[in-house]
Amino acid sequence: MRVVIVGAGLGGLACAIACRREGIDVVVLERSPEVREVGAGIQIPPNGGRIMRDLGVLPQLLDQGSQVQQVDFRRYKDGHLLRSMPFGDDITREYDAPWIADYYRVLLDEAIRLGANIRFGVEVEHVLTDGPEAILAGGERVSGNIVVGADGIGSLVRHSVLNDTVSLVETGDLAYRATFQKEQLEALGDDKVNDLCQRVGVTSWLGPDKHTIFYPVRGGKEFNLVLLRPDNLTQGSRREKGDIQEMRESYAGWDETLQKIISCVPSIDKWKLTHLPELPSWTKNTVTLLGDACHPTLPYQAQGAAMAVEDGAIIGKLLGLLQARYRKLERDPSLSDNEPTPETLISLLKLYEQIRKAPTTRSVQAAIMNRKLFHLQDGLLRSIRDFLLRYAGVTRKSDWTWLSSSRQRRSLGLDVLKDCSIAFEAWEASFF
Ligand SMILES: Cc1cc2nc3c(=O)[nH]c(=O)nc-3n(C[C@H](O)[C@H](O)[C@H](O)COP(=O)(O)OP(=O)(O)OC[C@H]3O[C@@H](n4cnc5c(N)ncnc54)[C@H](O)[C@@H]3O)c2cc1C
Ligand SMILES: *[C@@H]1O[C@H](CO)[C@@H](O)[C@H](O)[C@H]1NC(C)=O
Ligand SMILES: *[C@@H]1O[C@H](CO)[C@@H](O)[C@H](O)[C@H]1NC(C)=O
Repeated sequence: MRVVIVGAGLGGLACAIACRREGIDVVVLERSPEVREVGAGIQIPPNGGRIMRDLGVLPQLLDQGSQVQQVDFRRYKDGHLLRSMPFGDDITREYDAPWIADYYRVLLDEAIRLGANIRFGVEVEHVLTDGPEAILAGGERVSGNIVVGADGIGSLVRHSVLNDTVSLVETGDLAYRATFQKEQLEALGDDKVNDLCQRVGVTSWLGPDKHTIFYPVRGGKEFNLVLLRPDNLTQGSRREKGDIQEMRESYAGWDETLQKIISCVPSIDKWKLTHLPELPSWTKNTVTLLGDACHPTLPYQAQGAAMAVEDGAIIGKLLGLLQARYRKLERDPSLSDNEPTPETLISLLKLYEQIRKAPTTRSVQAAIMNRKLFHLQDGLLRSIRDFLLRYAGVTRKSDWTWLSSSRQRRSLGLDVLKDCSIAFEAWEASFF
């Protein structure tokens, strides 16, 4: 069996590792000519952490990344601490996996070590859903039993699967993203900024229509700042060089500590945040989609990357379970069908889609809900939110309101691989 994966993002790499662990041949086709550190500075909540353990990379991650110790919510005007939610061991105890940051390189190294053939600098121009085949710039054709479109929000494979019938929808927000060296921030000589840099966790300032997030990456050697605000980029434009002056003006009057950090932004990128309506289908014949290609989300739940790696791990797991079934059959010479037919693979990919549709749709909706909660105008509702936030957490122990932890448990507590084995058994019983 051979799987062709378009895109070496976090979802594509997780899929490659999961397939290789089952002994399945893997080719990954990646447009960018070299390793980009796209995933650097992305967080992995415990549902993703559990997948990392199943893929055998958790020790490396804990070694190279850092465990998020707390998430602080602050008032935009004065930086007043609304709530510091304990994460760290509290999370690990409750969800049986840590909340970590930074994982692109670890996944890439593991995929290569397991023998995935990762080809950088190849652009997929077209995907034929019959075959199936990926056609590269220059005409080369790469075929396999399955093609997985892990090619992100602008997915070309999605266009083949859905025959160009669905387009991206604006979320109404845009993001500025900047990265700092620790020394740059220390050079400010500001006590409050230094305090923030000492915290191995996430700090978020919540204001009307806008919020910002600040957190360490690369084990605290660098910091990421993401600023979110209403989108006024022209339609169609996805990414532009950001105007620093305009960015500063957008956050004028916010917490002085945040302003100081903003004052040393060297350059900035501006992204239009888009997502998709719920797709009619992720799968056409033996071609399917995963991650941002089929369920892009507002980054307000830190779930985008975790969902992509869950998808990838499940595809690998299902193919592995199917293969195990045929291995068993091979020992029985009276049976002739000891290889999966395209029909079997199509049905299995439909099962994958069925398993993943509901939880990913729920997560995308939850991020939209967070947008409303984070961006409340000053007033009564905001006061109620801040009051409730004082008692909220994502674990039972830290959450006195029940509301937020029971909502979080639906994503953070998922054991998707276990659920997937159960679903496979039911499918196997009805399909064969
Ligand atoms: C501002 C912002 C902040 C975010 N913060 C977080 C966070 O804290 N935590 C979190 O979990 N998520 C976060 N996300 C979301 C997260 O980045 C994505 O959900 C995740 O990276 C999706 O992974 P993916 O593998 O599906 O796609 P991608 O990472 O987009 O990978 C797609 C890959 O496919 C390649 N590709 C595309 N087209 C082709 C082609 N035609 N041929 C060959 N290769 C191709 C691309 O080069 C790319 O490498 C954030 C997103 C944004 C915009
Ligand atoms: C795809 O779209 C084209 C043009 O809109 C249409 O002619 C064609 O029938 C569609 N194909 C399928 C399989 O839906
Ligand atoms: C978008 O909004 C910002 C902040 O209000 C403003 O400075 C900028 O000029 C606006 N851009 C456009 C294209 O309207």
